[in-house]
Amino acid sequence: MTKPIIISTDPGIDDAVAISILLFSKKVDVKLIASAAGNVGVDKTVNNTLKLESFLGKKVPVVKGVNRAIIKKPIEATSVHGKTGMDGYAFPEPDRSLLVNQTSPEAIHEVVANSKEKVTLVGIAPLTDYALFIRLYPEDLQNIEELVLMGACMGRGNYGVLSEFNIAGDPEAAKIVFQSGLPIRVAPLELGFQARVKPEASEKIKTFGRVGDMFYSLFSRYRGGSFKTGLKIYDALAAGMLLNPDMFEFEKTHVEIINQEGFTYGASLMDFKNRLQLPENATIGTSVDVDQFIQWFVSAIHEAC
Ligand code: RIB
Ligand code: CA
Repeated sequence: MTKPIIISTDPGIDDAVAISILLFSKKVDVKLIASAAGNVGVDKTVNNTLKLESFLGKKVPVVKGVNRAIIKKPIEATSVHGKTGMDGYAFPEPDRSLLVNQTSPEAIHEVVANSKEKVTLVGIAPLTDYALFIRLYPEDLQNIEELVLMGACMGRGNYGVLSEFNIAGDPEAAKIVFQSGLPIRVAPLELGFQARVKPEASEKIKTFGRVGDMFYSLFSRYRGGSFKTGLKIYDALAAGMLLNPDMFEFEKTHVEIINQEGFTYGASLMDFKNRLQLPENATIGTSVDVDQFIQWFVSAIHEAC
């Protein structure tokens, strides 16, 4: 049975890979894509989502996310994804007919409230849209299966000393999400580093026709690693966690998000030793079988080609 899912995403080259894998997976039914502010501004992430769907021939409704974090000043990652947020390939024009005329919390609410089965939320961007949905529609939470998110870090960050980009992008939103009581599974930063996509995998993907060529072109522009050292396709780890969880080791713990401004703003404390004596609120993917992941990754991309 296919699971109904919603994707909150800020494409973003690694997002584009994760979105494509989820759109073509037979295990999930993507009901809505909420394009969030994150790697680049929300108008660009909307455009990138619509362009990607045009290219892939998909017709999943898209809603424009909230245009900035709840409190935090906007951050961006054009150095990693390029000025457009998805540099490296000449996509067709965006299919603007897919854009729904609602706010993101309204659109998420409509899907969740009307779903006969519990809906899985996938978060591969800052959590602003999900946080406001949680605050505006608390009665919907009983119809959420879980939230699977790429974000946070067990140790060093990629945005701040101790903060990962998706959490640092909206620490207050992350705090709301981790305090919501929703079942949460986390693909932290370290998994993307552990499961780097090496040249032999990229070269194989390049042979998968026009879609494989598109991915290879995006990879060649992506600055989250390199062909030589391996590409950190972070958001694909969240997709893999949802679609093929046996590749991962998991540990339940308390995740505390720091939202006091200062050097640790946006840090995600993962209390594996239970030093804070606080209740568990998340299940962390602490490691991934790299060979299994790469094999899954290439075959999942092949499904999209
Ligand atoms: O830290 C990695 C995350 O930040 C990924 O989701 C990437 O797309 C960026 O949004
Ligand atoms: Ca992302």
